[in-house]
Amino acid sequence: MSTQKPEELPSEEELAQMSRDELVKLGSKLDGVELVEYPDPWPVKGTRAEKRAERMVAFWFALSGLAGLAFVVAFIWWPAKYVAPDEDGHLMYSLYTPVIGLTLGVAILAVGIGVLNYTRKFVPHEIAVQERHDGGSNELDKATILANLADAGNRSTISRRPMIKRSLAFGGGVLGLALTALPLGSLLRNPHAQSDNKDGLIHTPWQHTKEGEKVFLRRATGTDEVSLVRPEDMDAGAMDTVFPYREGDTAHDWTKMLLRGDSPVMLIRLRPADAARVIKHEGQEDFNYGDFYAYTKICSHVGCPTSLYEQRTNRILCPCHQSQFDALQYAKPVFGPATRKLAQLPIAVDEETGYFISTGDFIEPIGPAYWERKS
Ligand code: FES
Repeated sequence: MSTQKPEELPSEEELAQMSRDELVKLGSKLDGVELVEYPDPWPVKGTRAEKRAERMVAFWFALSGLAGLAFVVAFIWWPAKYVAPDEDGHLMYSLYTPVIGLTLGVAILAVGIGVLNYTRKFVPHEIAVQERHDGGSNELDKATILANLADAGNRSTISRRPMIKRSLAFGGGVLGLALTALPLGSLLRNPHAQSDNKDGLIHTPWQHTKEGEKVFLRRATGTDEVSLVRPEDMDAGAMDTVFPYREGDTAHDWTKMLLRGDSPVMLIRLRPADAARVIKHEGQEDFNYGDFYAYTKICSHVGCPTSLYEQRTNRILCPCHQSQFDALQYAKPVFGPATRKLAQLPIAVDEETGYFISTGDFIEPIGPAYWERKS
């Protein structure tokens, strides 16, 4: 707030006529600011030290730009798909995370160091004393502070340092591009590129890839032991997490499958009294096996694992945002932000072995919505 008496203030016309230097002085005076020291960082222009400082700042901005560029390239083209340790390409795959972390880290760090260096070497380090005041600023104060800022920019000599300006534009621009690539990068890939096989977006590893194939429900025990599930293994009211397993699957096949986000399924055995109250979804009347129901574990809100099953209420809970799904009504949402039911996996018991199998893939997309999702 100005401390000047109204009669001492310049009129609007006088204000418009004033030069930037005059406005700076006026602003300081009005704000009761006393500039104790306001030294030019480079009083003698064009010295070797000044040029060295300029090159140093430009170096950091340029490094930031190069690292940002490397990040964008690696984020889009570096092979990120899982490759087992004894397969070709494992080294490149295992370097994916370090490479994108390192390049983005260097890009951010370098631009920060560049700004710090510029501030230390080229912005005047004035010492000013100013009295504090309450309330907002009037138009006159705003005009003078803008002049002050422009003056500070001018005195920092940025306008006559094209090397720093260009390297800053390069570094800042590429860094901005890198930050944009994070959310947009995945959109550059065609989500339907593999839609004809089990790796495609609309299929899960539960898909039967050949006639008569048996896809068993297997528990993840953390060991190589193959633990399949039979109806008599589960008590009424129990829940188990299962994954697809085919005879002959190797440890690598199992690892690859576990890495997929769309394979975990909740196998629930309802209590007989509850099972008698079940309402089935149209077209999915034969998806259950007796009291056993299998639902994807991927929440239809934003894809967290819906890992909690409350036996007393028959509700499936997602811990992320507290969505609840009714296991007695085809896992339709009854509370929270989720609006779609959990996809149901069709299951049966293999007559030959007595173990649970899936009779096919999910018939609806699992997890959160995407453009073409109809259900
Ligand atoms: S991801 Fe399940 S409620 Fe949000």
